Amino acid sequence: MQVQFCGLTLNGCVYNASGPRTGSSDALAKVGSSKSCAILTKSATLLPQNGNPLPRTYTSPNFSINSEGLPNKSIDYYIDSETIKESVLDSGKPYFVSISGKSLDDNVEMMKRICKAPGVAGIELNLACPNVIGHPIIAYDMVQLRSALKTVASLSLPLPIGIKLPPYFDFIHYQKAAEIINEYKSTISYIVTMNTVGNTLMISPHSGSPVISPKGGYGGLSGPAVKPIALAQVRKFSELLDPSIDIVGVGGVQSGQDVYDMILCGAKVVQVGTCHWIEGPKCFDRIVEEFEEICRKNGVKELEEIRGKLKEW
Ligand code: DHB
Repeated sequence: MQVQFCGLTLNGCVYNASGPRTGSSDALAKVGSSKSCAILTKSATLLPQNGNPLPRTYTSPNFSINSEGLPNKSIDYYIDSETIKESVLDSGKPYFVSISGKSLDDNVEMMKRICKAPGVAGIELNLACPNVIGHPIIAYDMVQLRSALKTVASLSLPLPIGIKLPPYFDFIHYQKAAEIINEYKSTISYIVTMNTVGNTLMISPHSGSPVISPKGGYGGLSGPAVKPIALAQVRKFSELLDPSIDIVGVGGVQSGQDVYDMILCGAKVVQVGTCHWIEGPKCFDRIVEEFEEICRKNGVKELEEIRGKLKEW
């Protein structure tokens, strides 16, 4: 089923989240060869980074915790047409670049470079990374959120811009964030909700220490356990945002039913992160097939028939 998303036509509604298995052109090529309908990079910084000390990821059946600290090969790698040509651009799928600069100036510089590079379909501006020491989550600070969007608007970039948001937990916070995003609806084509639940802690019963080492063990929570939080984000933002702003749902998606639920809550497209990390890129084939089967069973021919149509009691 085709989906209109931020001015593009996608051949499907499921693609990869930024983060897991998205750091190299080889990994991105594997996403391109799967049933993922688009390809999205790891969050890039201006210069290459190794990230936080190991161990920095922990996986269990119900959840994962990570604090990678933005290891990545730099923005120039992800937009270098030689690096990504065969692997990514030749797949014919829309190619999105995620950025998470150390400062607003870095983000501006990266956005300018992306717009000069050929083959990029859109930018995902990450305003939600919880894992860089000394850098708070930008989109929890409404002053910083507004100033970031104001700056992006002033650039009048030729590509669609999406912003990745952290989870919110109080309706007043959703309202404040949505109000600011709506002010910039001519700049922001879509939101991606949600990033990991920041600064969670798990202890290993064997060692008695946290399961990951950076930042005293605090890391971002993802995986099946966070699905109810992610559904709430998608549902609430679909109530509050201007309808011209598309919503990308992400958080705990590992089955066709999870994709269906996200769309019922109002998602235009859905990303898969932790499940991609655990299962590898074949997860996209499985999830897409499961989703198509559910749609067939329910007689759904167009996603618009179910988008935002969560039944009320
Ligand atoms: C990292 C984690 C995130 O949740 C994110 O949005 C970006 C980077 C990281 O730890 O590398």
